Amino acid sequence: MKILAISCSPRKQGNTEILLGEALKGAQSDGAEVELFSVSGKTIAPCDACGACNEAGVCHIKDDMQPLYGKILDADGIIFGAPIYFYNMAAQCKAVMDRTIALNHTERKMANKVGGIVVVGASFGNIDAVKDLYFYFVSRRMLAANYVSAYGMAKGDVKSLEKGMKAAYDLGRQMVKLVEMQFEYPSEFPLMAIAYGTHTR
Ligand SMILES: Cc1cc2nc3c(=O)[nH]c(=O)nc-3n(C[C@H](O)[C@H](O)[C@H](O)COP(=O)(O)O)c2cc1C
Repeated sequence: MKILAISCSPRKQGNTEILLGEALKGAQSDGAEVELFSVSGKTIAPCDACGACNEAGVCHIKDDMQPLYGKILDADGIIFGAPIYFYNMAAQCKAVMDRTIALNHTERKMANKVGGIVVVGASFGNIDAVKDLYFYFVSRRMLAANYVSAYGMAKGDVKSLEKGMKAAYDLGRQMVKLVEMQFEYPSEFPLMAIAYGTHTR
């Protein structure tokens, strides 16, 4: 079983990464193979809406999202870690989410994977990011695990949040238990959440 954590903070060893590290320790303690992918120092461009991924499920943009696609597809559970910038997830997190539109594909998909959430802000905005990530999991047909919402400003602040660190560790453990349940979205229903409009009629 593989649990992947995606840290969408540009700060190496920042609060998001610290809590994700705890979550991965928890997952590892329950037997999972774990990996942390950090966007720090990497280039992940926004989706350019070219539509080329519709057929093959492959994105044409050659940047650091390419190795991440493989890691996402290989993982049984994925924890999204987002710092809060201007009352919602940082743009780096939204870019990763948007680029996963390439995984709207019957073979290359995120459905049935377990999704966890870690968000860190200094004061305002955590809940908006949590809600957006949960809605993303619903639309991806993923199984939602817990969220960890923590507050800290300077690098390392979250280390003093004893309960927050424990909640992150427990999130990792919960991811393992939920993967073990082998959730499967019923195949008779569409794999994608669709909003009806002129593009569907
Ligand atoms: C550009 C920018 C905007 C920010 N906006 C907010 C905000 O709206 N609300 C908030 O609570 N914290 C805000 N913060 C603070 C960060 O969320 C906080 O420092 C957090 O711990 C960063 O996580 P990291 O250490 O993983 O990078 C902002 C930080 C930056 C750099």
